[in-house]
Parts: sequence; structure tokens; C-alpha cells
Amino acid sequence: MSIQESRIIEALSTVMDPDLGRDLVTLGMIKEVSADEADNVSVTVELTTPACPMKESIKQSCIAAIRTAIPEAASINVTMGSKVTSSCSHHGQPGHHGHHEHHTHHGHGGHGAPQRIQLDNVRNIIAVASGKGGVGKSTVSVNLAVSLAASGAKVGLIDADLYGPSIPTMFGLPDARPEVTDGKIQPIVQYGVKLMSIGFLVDSETALIWRGPMASSAIRQLITDVDWQELDYLIFDLPPGTGDIQLTLVQALPLTGAVIVTTPQDVALADVAKAVTMFRKVEVPILGVVENMSWYELPDGTRDYIFGRQGGEKFAKANGLNFLGAIPIGGVVREGGDEGKPVIIGHPEVPSAVAAKQVAGEIARQVSILNASCTC
Ligand SMILES: Nc1ncnc2c1ncn2[C@@H]1O[C@H](COP(=O)(O)OP(=O)(O)OP(=O)(O)O)[C@@H](O)[C@H]1O
Ligand SMILES: [Mg+2]
Repeated sequence: MSIQESRIIEALSTVMDPDLGRDLVTLGMIKEVSADEADNVSVTVELTTPACPMKESIKQSCIAAIRTAIPEAASINVTMGSKVTSSCSHHGQPGHHGHHEHHTHHGHGGHGAPQRIQLDNVRNIIAVASGKGGVGKSTVSVNLAVSLAASGAKVGLIDADLYGPSIPTMFGLPDARPEVTDGKIQPIVQYGVKLMSIGFLVDSETALIWRGPMASSAIRQLITDVDWQELDYLIFDLPPGTGDIQLTLVQALPLTGAVIVTTPQDVALADVAKAVTMFRKVEVPILGVVENMSWYELPDGTRDYIFGRQGGEKFAKANGLNFLGAIPIGGVVREGGDEGKPVIIGHPEVPSAVAAKQVAGEIARQVSILNASCTC
């Protein structure tokens, strides 16, 4: 008689998901268990993100648990799959889950909160923000998007910077123009990521004269008039700062959470506090802080902390936020941006690319943790 499935499940019920704090069986992550006549055991585990940094360690824990509980197993084959969980902010309306409905006076003419945009097929929307310009928001957004897509997730990226769109250049598509079918704008696909930028739609002089409501409605169209179809993650590269455009956007979107990018420098940190305040005011969860341009590695391997040391990490700690990782300065990062080939694709082995990939995994992980904690 072959090994009973119930014994395999019992063994797996001792394996905890380190982030979600419960066992894999209780979490419903065990999708298939079987054992054949020759006692070969097969299991499929469904994680909450394909970019899970714990993937390998969870897999090894499963194998170890089965080996201990079922010593007669001839072989143990664990397949790791994933199904991205969706954000709380997609269910229910604003006002639900502690989102206040009365964001009336934030300085945009007393119009009240902008109408919430509904994106039913998008599981998670992640805003990438900073207080100050030029700290690497777009670089982080691009490498995050490409990295999540490479892990197998369905990913979209929106460049919401009307006055200086950089995504077309960073993806090597400065002259791309999207097609329109059935009244929907088709996103441009590059490196496995669905892209939309104001830079694909209008020339820069046109966008430059837009202000206030014009700017807001243009950005709205980037979201609502585009045929995104099903997405696990939609990354939103916000324009720098914490002004009206940013505030309107973070109120209008059902955001899963925000990632805040900073350099270690104090100046950037003073501004980053404003970004934190903005997200807290509108009750958007902050997934954490990314420190970019953390150091420069000298040829002898030592690190030069050009912009100061661990400012981002200290800031995160002091404000009760997760620290999502540090990305060093790398010449190839800037080159990759200018040449339209994100460093994660062009030079995946350099320290900055390795760090950016880790940051992406950490962000996906925080999204999974957040989604697991919502009670909707
Ligand atoms: N880790 C890094 N190493 C080297 N160069 C970097 C790094 N991060 C960003 N850069 C470079 O710094 C410049 C600014 O980065 P980026 O455009 O991503 O910043 P941003 O915050 O999006 O700027 P803006 O506020 O203008 O939107 C770019 O030329 C980019 O290639
Ligand atoms: Mg930018």
C-alpha cells in the first residue's frame, strides 16, 4: 500500500510560513499531495508571491518535515508555485478598513476626495514615492517591475511624472506610441512589463503646461483608459514631492501600499518625512523604506559612504517602518537607465542589481504579509 496523503499533510502542518506565522496547511498553501506505488512523494506548495525571498527555505523545510515524518518515502518532490494575493483596498469602498471618507481640505480647492478609481483585475497597486527628486524612484520602480515580472508575476508600471517622464527612456522606447483598440489604450510591453507613460501619449511641451485638474485627469486616464487586463502588481512611479498631484493620486487609487525611496543624506530625509506624513494622513500603508545610492564600492572592495551612512535604515527604525534594503551606487545602474536596459537585465551580477532584486523580493513579501493581515 502506498503512503497515505493524510500523513503527508500532517507532516506539512508542522511547516510554518515564517512571515505569516501560521503553518502551510492552515494557510491553504498546499495544493497537491500524492504518493505513488513506489513511495515517491510529490507536493505542490502555492506561495503568495513568486518573488518570495523565503521560497527556497520553505521548500527545504517541507522536504525535511516529510523526510522526518515519513522515513520510507523513496523520493520527495516539492514544486513551488504561487498565486499573488490581492489587497484589502480592492474590496469595500473608501471609508472601509479605516479609510476616512472626508479628505476634504488638503488644499486642492475644497473639492473633497477625488472619486476612487476601481481596478478590478489588478491585485495590488504599489506607489513608489519620495520627498525629494532625483533620489532614484524611477530606477527603483523599473528594477522592481522587471524583477517581479522575471519571477513570473504579471506586472504593470505607470510613469505618473507628467513633467519629466523617464520610463520610455529607461525601457529603451523613447519613440514608442501605443495602439488603441476598442477605445482602450494598449500598454507597451517591454522586458515582460506592461508600461504606460504620459511620454508615450503626448510630447513633453504639451504635458508641461498642464496644471491642477488637467494634470490629475491626464494621470487618471493613464490608469483607467489602459487595457491592463489581469495584473498581480501595478507599480506606480510617482512624481517627486508631496504636492497636490501626489495627494490627489494617492487618494484616488486603491493603493495596497507605498514604498518610500531616499538617499542616506539628511536633506533627503527631511523631505522623506513629509512623504510619510502624506501617506499616513490618507491611511495608505507604508510597505517600507528603500535606501538608494547607499555607498560606492572602491576597486579594493571597501565602501565609500558618499551620502552618509545608513540614514535610510535609521529613519525607518525611528518611524516604525520596515527597512526594505540598501542599493549601492553603480555606474551600470545609471548607464542602464540611459541606455534603456535596466541593470537587473543588463548586469544582473553587479552588487546594485543583486540589491535591487532583494529589495523587490522584500517589497513582494511585505505586500503578502499585509494582505494576509486584512480581514475582508
Ligand atoms: N543606485 C544607483 N547608482 C547609480 N546611479 C543611480 C542609482 N540610482 C539612480 N541613479 C541615477 O540617478 C539619476 C536619478 O535617478 P532616477 O531618475 O531614478 O530618480 P527619480 O527619483 O526618479 O528622479 P525624479 O525625481 O526626477 O523623478 C538617474 O540618472 C539614475 O540613473
Ligand atoms: Mg523619476
